Amino acid sequence: MTKPKGTLPSTKPVTVPTLRAMKRAGERITMVTAYDATFARLLDESGVDMLLVGDSLGMVVQGLDSTLPVTVDEIVYHCRAVARGTQRAHIVGDMPFMSWQISPEDALRNAARFLSTGGAHSVKLEGGRNAAGTIERIVNAGIPVVGHVGLTPQSVHAMGGFRVQGKTEDAAARVFDDARAVADAGAFALVLEGIPSDLAAAITDAVAIPTIGIGAGPSCDGQVLVCYDLLGLTPDLRPKFVKRYAEWFEEGKRAAARYCEEVRSGAFPTDEYAFGQVRREDAGPSASPLPGTSLPSNPERRPGPAYGPVA
Ligand code: KIV
Repeated sequence: MTKPKGTLPSTKPVTVPTLRAMKRAGERITMVTAYDATFARLLDESGVDMLLVGDSLGMVVQGLDSTLPVTVDEIVYHCRAVARGTQRAHIVGDMPFMSWQISPEDALRNAARFLSTGGAHSVKLEGGRNAAGTIERIVNAGIPVVGHVGLTPQSVHAMGGFRVQGKTEDAAARVFDDARAVADAGAFALVLEGIPSDLAAAITDAVAIPTIGIGAGPSCDGQVLVCYDLLGLTPDLRPKFVKRYAEWFEEGKRAAARYCEEVRSGAFPTDEYAFGQVRREDAGPSASPLPGTSLPSNPERRPGPAYGPVA
């Protein structure tokens, strides 16, 4: 039975069976990237179902122009931070470039680190038919896998840039076959990135696992956005598929500029933000922590001038 859309999520932790059940019930899944404990807490408390510790952190956190240099160690480090800020959401650790292609043993060892050290609940890897064997191996080891087909940013050079995939019938058939292979290999969910909406709809109908779209139109079982995009923290990037729900970069700049003004003018800090005066028991010249000055005497105990240089 299809549940009404837009209802508040339950507070129970989101698990792999929860996500499968959401597809069956026709409930839309929300996924957002997170890279630290504070953003994780914010997104978790706002009801986001899945937090992706994406290799996009290379671009939005590290300032790189691709995700290729991001390492397993870095993603594991960010997973740990996200796990500390999360109570409910399902955490996915993104397997970076070359972390699964070298050998099945290497893939398994790296995937395991996201769960054992990083505190993630599953891993995501970019690849289609070429990744199916590895996905099967990781899933057989008890590690849930999210697939990722279509525009796969780690293949930026092979694709000749960040380009929409599957635009011709042949290309669409290849993306479709990739999606099927990933689902057949045992992935429990599938990110569809940068593909035409009708292709995403056909894949969503054809596979039993939830599809999570980014630039893949409205028919997917869920949607994912990079948190910096969603919150308006990426001033120079305005991809067509991103809807901004806040303008935090501009708001943050205004707040920081006001802070600078107030520090420069002396308006901040006022007494409200300060720790008052040193408590004086029986202060004498020898009690001063400052060379050459005495502590001011306590006017309630010892009437007289409050401050004065020590002779
Ligand atoms: O790394 C990432 O943030 C991603 C999403 C864009 C799906 O892979």
